[in-house]
Amino acid sequence: LVAFFQPKRLAGKRVLITAGPTFEAIDPVRGITNLSSGKMGFAIARAAREAGAQVTLVAGPVSLATPRGVTRIDVRSARDMMAATQPEAEGADVFIATAAVADWRPATASEHKIKKDGSGQAPALAFTENPDILATVAQSARAKSGALFCVGFAAESQDLAANAQAKRLRKGVPLLVGNIGPATFGAEDNALLVIDDQGSFEMPRAPKLQLARALVAQIANHL
Ligand code: CTP
Ligand code: CA
Repeated sequence: LVAFFQPKRLAGKRVLITAGPTFEAIDPVRGITNLSSGKMGFAIARAAREAGAQVTLVAGPVSLATPRGVTRIDVRSARDMMAATQPEAEGADVFIATAAVADWRPATASEHKIKKDGSGQAPALAFTENPDILATVAQSARAKSGALFCVGFAAESQDLAANAQAKRLRKGVPLLVGNIGPATFGAEDNALLVIDDQGSFEMPRAPKLQLARALVAQIANHL
């Protein structure tokens, strides 16, 4: 009912969202990932759809139902997420990067399961940096011309306001949203710090869907 009475402020807009963690393979049966549940990104997808947008959700490995009316593309690694996101960004009006993209991946994934060799020695893992999906999309011609509005999220464990403002400038995005600690992985609610070129304000602790609706309204104000 709430959704029905939402003003359709994103009618005719295409919104692209990344959500969830990524999974970076070590071998065919193992990998590294993180504790992102994808709930905030999925809530934003739902809220954007309620606001009348055509929504594409690029999701890492999560166990969440696809919001009604949302187009979902499932991916596993950061590189898969990049490959799925870049072409979609070409036609989008808004890009919201909520995914907790793994910053590094094992430099080489073993073709076969790595076996213990009986020596008691653990295998050494070398890492390589993953592409930055948000920074790449924010540098695209479409974003630079103002046709694509990019929104980043920041996960920080300290100095949220300063780190998040620095991240907004470094990523080259007009809007950056910080999760106000403690870590909210998997939780049903969250509190956000919203930062744009005018300054910052807090969205106090509330269910993720409620915050998502408020954030979508904020984004609509910027368009
Ligand atoms: N992001 C991304 N691709 C990456 C890393 C991050 O698209 N390879 C996006 C996230 O989805 C988020 C924003 O960038 O919207 C910030 O992510 P965060 O992990 O906070 O920043 P990093 O630039 O990775 O810096 P660090 O983790 O070192 O703080
Ligand atoms: Ca990171």
